[in-house]
Amino acid sequence: MLGDSGVGKTSLLIRFRDGRYVPSYFLSTVGIDFRNKVVVVDGTRVKLQIWDTAGQERFRSVTHAYYRDAHALLLLYDVTNKTTFDNIRAWLGEIREYAQEDVVIVLIGNKADCGSSERQVKREDGERLGREHNVPFMETSAKTGLNVELAFTAVARQLKCRGYDHGDDGKFNVHDFVRDNTKARSVCAQCRNM
Ligand code: GTP
Repeated sequence: MLGDSGVGKTSLLIRFRDGRYVPSYFLSTVGIDFRNKVVVVDGTRVKLQIWDTAGQERFRSVTHAYYRDAHALLLLYDVTNKTTFDNIRAWLGEIREYAQEDVVIVLIGNKADCGSSERQVKREDGERLGREHNVPFMETSAKTGLNVELAFTAVARQLKCRGYDHGDDGKFNVHDFVRDNTKARSVCAQCRNM
């Protein structure tokens, strides 16, 4: 998981793994942390080992060392913070420099639960950036759970298809999967219940 400090990497991971959100939780990650979760993809158990990197610049040399081994990267920005969106191009540059060429990338605009008065990045801008770099895009909310499961499942399916599971026919397309399964904020059940 990559992206500027404060975009919600740890919160998204905790929401995915434990199904909870701690509102004022902001313990900036130091260096790197990891958590495991097993997901079931078409009857196959896929163990995801998820590395949560620190967004702060001062830890960059530590986190670079982990790019090379990553099979997939969730690249986050915060929809209420334009700077974090503008920095995505620089993050993609780092990925090109340090990660494997065929790494799976998913671009994520987090904090989609925030209202229009707080929002600084439109969903269309995220979609455009995703298209520009040929990476699937979705908005998520660690707070409400919007699309959180989808983000990790899309990665798990793509990795399974890449040959980590020999029974797969290799026809999975992460772009189509994300496009067909992304929920808009207005139809999220959890949002409706808030
Ligand atoms: P670093 O560890 O410094 O790289 O930060 P991080 O990207 O892991 O951010 P973290 O998960 O610590 O979240 C930063 C702040 O944003 C916290 O106060 C969270 O409660 C808040 N936050 C995270 N996700 C969401 C979200 O989906 N919606 C809202 N409204 N706030 C969020």
